[in-house]
Amino acid sequence: MTVFEKVARPVLFRLGGGDAEHAHEWTLRRLAALSGRPTLLAALRRRYATAAPVEAFGVRFPNPVGLAAGMDKNGVALRAWPALGFGFVEVGTVTAHAQPGNDRPRLFRLPSSQAVINRMGFNNEGAHALAKRLAQLGPLGVPLGISLGKSKVTPLEDAVADYRASYDALRDFGDYFAVNVSSPNTPGLRSLQDKDSLDAILAALSGPKPVLVKIAPDLTEQAIAELLEVCLARGVAGLIATNTTLSRDGVAAADQGTAGQAGGLSGAPLTERAHKVVSFVHTETAGQLPIVGVGGLMTPDDVTRMFDAGASLVQLYTGFIYHGPALVRAAARRAAR
Ligand code: FNR
Repeated sequence: MTVFEKVARPVLFRLGGGDAEHAHEWTLRRLAALSGRPTLLAALRRRYATAAPVEAFGVRFPNPVGLAAGMDKNGVALRAWPALGFGFVEVGTVTAHAQPGNDRPRLFRLPSSQAVINRMGFNNEGAHALAKRLAQLGPLGVPLGISLGKSKVTPLEDAVADYRASYDALRDFGDYFAVNVSSPNTPGLRSLQDKDSLDAILAALSGPKPVLVKIAPDLTEQAIAELLEVCLARGVAGLIATNTTLSRDGVAAADQGTAGQAGGLSGAPLTERAHKVVSFVHTETAGQLPIVGVGGLMTPDDVTRMFDAGASLVQLYTGFIYHGPALVRAAARRAAR
């Protein structure tokens, strides 16, 4: 067991009477404070940062292990993530309009399954607030991805303008942009993965910056194949696979009560499905399209398999909740081998 698993995780999991979002907010506040402490950051960097440089879609990454979208939606703790070993950070998902997200509770741990269910609903301060924060940040030292989503108040038929508004506010600050059309927690959002809707969004975001599309693990192979055609025709820079799942397969018996919560499931029950989607995309595109592999990467072996399936980069979220920065370091070291 690592120090994180033995000491930090039990404390974090008990914070706020076990409320998972309370622990998340507490951690983010600590990491935001840490972001202003250069000496501590340097000490952490010496312990956790791994050099395993890669290049993907024209961007150079110090290592290929990134922080997945949703952890630092508003970019409040940006300097902490590279110090904890991440080779890139994806902020957001942000929306054109600031929004509170769904009612709490909306984040649930399934500890026997090493999983999480969330129905956050894109709670975020909005694209303009993020732009203001990023304008003051200065160089981060690792690539910054910005995940864009649709505001809840915007009807689906006006989605293109909504994505475009966020993109316009943030275009100077991202090294790449992720089009999130795969969150299960904004009504109708996943229908934007359909050919025509996606084509219109991608047309509106075409520009010099790499644009990637993040997909759901619940799509059929035929739906993925159709989506890939649009992505290739529009010259997207890559695919991020996958977001959380609506399936509850693989949840342990002890977590069946919590499994009834609405929302997207992440962590160990998603490992095989995300791996399969990445393999399929890699084969279907004959390796033409860089893939960011994400979903259920809980161990260094999961990460190795994701690279073997064709991912150029990977991202962690739930694995980081359960295993902390030692997993980031171990994952990046796999890439360095
Ligand atoms: C997420 N995820 C997510 N994805 C995204 O594109 N935008 C977002 O805002 C969020 N928000 C979010 C919140 C919470 C609490 C969780 C647990 C997840 C999905 C995340 O980036 C990732 O794709 C999945 O969680 C699968 O990876 P893991 O968690 O199994 O490593």
